[in-house]
Amino acid sequence: MNARSLSPLDRLLSDLQRAMDTVAGAPAAERPNPAQEHADIVLDDDERRHAAGLMRINHVGEVCAQALYCGQAAVARDGATREHLLAAAQEETDHLAWCADRLRELDSRPSLLNPLWYAGSYAIGALAGLRGDGWNLGFVVETERQVEAHIDEHLQSLPQADARSRAILQVMKADEARHADAAEQAGARILPMPVPTLMAAASKLMKSVAYRL
Ligand SMILES: [Fe+2]
Ligand SMILES: [Fe+2]
Repeated sequence: MNARSLSPLDRLLSDLQRAMDTVAGAPAAERPNPAQEHADIVLDDDERRHAAGLMRINHVGEVCAQALYCGQAAVARDGATREHLLAAAQEETDHLAWCADRLRELDSRPSLLNPLWYAGSYAIGALAGLRGDGWNLGFVVETERQVEAHIDEHLQSLPQADARSRAILQVMKADEARHADAAEQAGARILPMPVPTLMAAASKLMKSVAYRL
């Protein structure tokens, strides 16, 4: 069904379903996991814990991206912007599934605070969206650029032997750059200060908590 023909109740129910799937479910990826092409080399305990901490951050980042885009889509004024946001959220599902797979392989688990990350990001997305569609897309650009930057840090920091996590992050990084470019072309406006600084501060807090919890 076309998103434009959904009633507000349908939309609320589909948002709730998506939130449940993201936080509690095991979303299925449409593309094959890029880790498959690399052997799963056994890491020592310190390396494994560090890799799991980084992949948990990446998983939370994807939970937040889903929630931000759904929150923004819920208040988007223009049908084309809403569809752009929902399509972006759909593509992030692959990232979410791949990070969850890798966490399992590393004998770890997603963040216990995922319901909280989801709710907070949904609210921030809806607030940004209420400012209008140019802001909505500007927010996508800023989110994707910040995710791209922290993936770069993780690529440097991952244990040398962890080729499987690295393969996932390399594909994610290329996808996030494409998402940012697409939002720019769709008419994103540049967010004024201090919005990008506040977003960076929120993401720094998320990263330091999600590494452990
Ligand atoms: Fe992503
Ligand atoms: Fe993205």
